[in-house]
Amino acid sequence: MLTSLRSKAVIISVSCLATSTLISLLYDVLRRSKIYSADLEKEKKGKRIPYLTSFLKLDLQNLRKALREGGEVVWLLCFHKTVGEALRETGGIFAFSSPAGKPFVIVNNEDILKDILVHHVARYKKQHANGILELFRKTTLPNSQSPAWRPVHKLASRMCFHSVEKEQKLLSLVDELCVMIKKEEDNRKVNLSALLTDWYWKVTLFLVLGEVPQGFPDAYRDAWLACIDRLSSPLINSFFFYKFIPTPANLWYRYTTWKFRKMMMKKMDDDNKCDWSVVHMMLQDKELNLETSEDRLEVAMEFLFTGTTSVTSTISWLMWHLSDNIKLQDKVAQECIGYQANSTEESFVRDLNKLQLLEVCLKETLRMYSPIHIGRMCKHDDVAGGYSIPQGADIMTNMWWVHRNEDNWKDPNKFDPNRFLDSSGNIVKPDHYYPFSMGLRGCPGQAVAFYISKLVVIRLLSSFRFSSQSQQEPLFKPSLMLPNTPAEMNLAVAPRGDEGKWSRKISS
Ligand code: HEM
Repeated sequence: MLTSLRSKAVIISVSCLATSTLISLLYDVLRRSKIYSADLEKEKKGKRIPYLTSFLKLDLQNLRKALREGGEVVWLLCFHKTVGEALRETGGIFAFSSPAGKPFVIVNNEDILKDILVHHVARYKKQHANGILELFRKTTLPNSQSPAWRPVHKLASRMCFHSVEKEQKLLSLVDELCVMIKKEEDNRKVNLSALLTDWYWKVTLFLVLGEVPQGFPDAYRDAWLACIDRLSSPLINSFFFYKFIPTPANLWYRYTTWKFRKMMMKKMDDDNKCDWSVVHMMLQDKELNLETSEDRLEVAMEFLFTGTTSVTSTISWLMWHLSDNIKLQDKVAQECIGYQANSTEESFVRDLNKLQLLEVCLKETLRMYSPIHIGRMCKHDDVAGGYSIPQGADIMTNMWWVHRNEDNWKDPNKFDPNRFLDSSGNIVKPDHYYPFSMGLRGCPGQAVAFYISKLVVIRLLSSFRFSSQSQQEPLFKPSLMLPNTPAEMNLAVAPRGDEGKWSRKISS
């Protein structure tokens, strides 16, 4: 009886999987003939995009080598060329298509990017991996039916809102990180990127909710990681229907997202008194038009998706370069320690832009390791920078390819914060620099990113001295969305001494 039940269950599961796979394939074939009818080769309005016919020919050995040496994005294309090299040869744009026929266009040419991201913004849609991110948060608010990004941008610009109480709480969160590092100090070695990532969930939750409720960081981490995993899945990127197939990874993503959204939904209705939190700002500002907790949830979830790994990845890479150059590290540390010693509670956050050396070090880190992949889907046939972009094409770029272009940057692979200083020592904004993307839908969190990164680095450098254990740049985590995230960053760590009042506080 039991055996027959079991075999029936197996038969049902296998047929479900087979049917949904078949539907998925059929759907994509139909979609292809409809949506991708504007074939890359047929379009005559603009120039034809150089087309790589042999699709992705992954060569694992070269892939590992590229990850180790250059950190090019995860794909190695045919002829064993890295994406950067291919872009160099094709004038900054090339295309290929997936086996299901979906065209992918990779760009690093700034004129083409400006057309796509700035001038023709209405022709492109932000869509990642066949809409997989919609499960985590909705881009159209369910109640008001208006786009979520408008209130998101308004709120992001207010997130640096200065409040002594908020800063005190934020600093004590940063102190928790220092305590975590201190615990590892006995081994004289820390995997800094892992510690930062493990800890940072609390910071984002704090900024959004005004507190870190118990159980939330774990649920948040599970849902977020499952989402990133799905966003990077080649199958999800290629086949629209694949996300509905009940594979263990798809089911896990659905479950963790459902669980975390449910926890957040419950929290959205709580009386929120922290005037700096995103939730409070949403409740107070009637002009944002976020009347219902359903709409507020989607906005909160957008903040919980963005601005987490981008910040931890930036801090990690900065610390790696400072660990590799102790002289520079000590200079930045002196600046931080002096700043802390001379600031009052009031001025501590208000004057963060006075930390010039730290600022240019962060800028240089963002040049070298732009953490986020920028994606668009072409809604209507377009001509961008003179090239024909077909409807349905997925456009991808990472500012890595712009920021490491030898035509525009001298020694692009060298960490040199002085690039951001003019001869009088003033900070300059160089051309060809877009770590936060460009246009209406670029990152609205730039100020928050600098604010939080500075708080963390001030605390880390005034408490510890880090040194790298090997000359070799850490490996990158293979990820489509976040291609420049370090996999592991083992640094030697020692207490910096007793130079500043803040470091004394942590050691006591
Ligand atoms: C060093 C840190 C960060 C970097 C390098 C970064 C960079 C980016 C980039 C490249 C995008 C994609 C823009 C595009 O598609 O054109 C983006 C989107 C976004 N970022 Fe950031 N970001 C960082 C931190 C943050 C923080 C801390 C927040 C939170 C306030 C944030 C909020 C957002 C939001 C809400 C979007 C989506 C905007 C939209 O869809 O209109 N980011 N970010």
